[in-house]
Amino acid sequence: MNDELERIRQRAEQDLAAACDSQALAAWYAQYLGRKGEVTSLTRRLGALPPEERPAFGQAVNALKTTLQGSFDRRQEEVRRAELTQRLEAEAVDITLPGRAPDIGTLHPVTQMIREVTDIFAHLGFQTVEGPEVEDAYYAFDALNIPKEHPARDVWDTIFIQSESREIVLRPHTSPMQIRTMEQSTPPVRVVVPGRCYRYEALDATHEWHFHQIEGLAVDERITMSDLKGVLAEFARQIFGRERKVRFRCDYFPFVEPGVDFAIDCMVCKGVGCRVCKGTGWIEILGAGMVHPNLLINVGYDPSRYTGFAFGMGVERLVMLKYGVQDIRAFYQGDVRFLAQFNRAAA
Ligand code: FA5
Repeated sequence: MNDELERIRQRAEQDLAAACDSQALAAWYAQYLGRKGEVTSLTRRLGALPPEERPAFGQAVNALKTTLQGSFDRRQEEVRRAELTQRLEAEAVDITLPGRAPDIGTLHPVTQMIREVTDIFAHLGFQTVEGPEVEDAYYAFDALNIPKEHPARDVWDTIFIQSESREIVLRPHTSPMQIRTMEQSTPPVRVVVPGRCYRYEALDATHEWHFHQIEGLAVDERITMSDLKGVLAEFARQIFGRERKVRFRCDYFPFVEPGVDFAIDCMVCKGVGCRVCKGTGWIEILGAGMVHPNLLINVGYDPSRYTGFAFGMGVERLVMLKYGVQDIRAFYQGDVRFLAQFNRAAA
C-alpha cells in the first residue's frame, strides 16, 4: 500500500515540477488534491480495509496530502514570481528614452496681438471691455453722429440683419462701444475694446469681410490732443520698437473732431520708401481724434466740462505689419503651417 502512495507521490512531484504556469498548477491541483483528485479518492478506500489497517493507512494518506500540499504551495509561489517577472519584462517602460513631444496648439496671431495691445493699454490705465457683435444701428451710426441718409454711412459697408421693428447690423467697427461704455459709466472713462467686425467688402490682400478692431476711449476733464498723441506714440513704440517716428495727419470721421490718421515710419525701409509702405515711408496704423461733442451730449455728459479722445485700429493689419504677412486671408484659412509660425513657445 505504502508503495502505491510513494508511486503517487513521485508522479505528483514530477508533474508538479513540469507545471510552469497558473493554469497547469490548477489542473495539477484538481488531479491530485481536488475533491475528486487521486489523493482525496484514496481516503474513500478506508472503508474497504480491515479495521486494524485503517489508522495506518489514514495517517499515510494524510501525510501524503500534507507533503503534496507543501510542495504545491512552494511551486505555486515559484510560478507566481516567474509569471510576475515575465510580465514586468514584457511591460517594461524604458524611462531613459526621450519623450515624444506632443503637438501643442498655439493662440491665433490675432488673439496674441489683442493680448499684446490690451496689455500695453492696461499699463497706461485702460480697462479692457467687450461689446455685442450684433448691434443696433443707433449705436453703430446714429449715436456716433452719423444720422440716417448721412453719406458717411456708405463708408462702412455694413451687413444688415433683417428686423421688423429696429435696424440691426453686424457691427462694421468697434466704435459703438464708445457710446455703450459712456452710457454705463461716469467720467473718468478709459477703456480699450477688442472685437470682431463685419463689412460687406470686396475681398483682397488687405480686406476681409470679417476682421478685428481695437477701439480706445478716454474721457475726463481737461483731456487734450496732447494726451492722445502721447498715448498713441507710446503704444506704437512698444509694439513696433522704440526708435519709431510717428505722424498725425488730418482725417475725417464723423464721431471725432478734429480727426486724425496715425502713422509710423516704415520699419522695413526706415522711412526711405519701399513696397511695404508703398514708397511713402509711412504706414498708417489707425484712425483717431477728439470725441465729438455730439457724442457726449448723446450720452448725457456735459461737453463744456468733459473732453475725450478715441481711436480705432485693425488688428489683422497690425499683425501683418509686425510680421510681414502679405495677405490678410491667410489668417482665416486654417493652415496650421501658417499659424504655427506664431507659436511663441517654439520660437
Ligand atoms: C473705423 O472703423 C473707425 N471706427 C476708427 C476710429 C475710431 C476713428 C475712433 C476715430 C476714432 P476705419 O474704417 O478706417 O475706421 O477702420 C479702422 C481700421 O480697421 C483700418 O485702419 C483697418 O486696419 C481695419 N479695417 C477696416 N476695414 C477692414 C477690412 N475689410 N479688413 C481688415 N481690416 C479692416
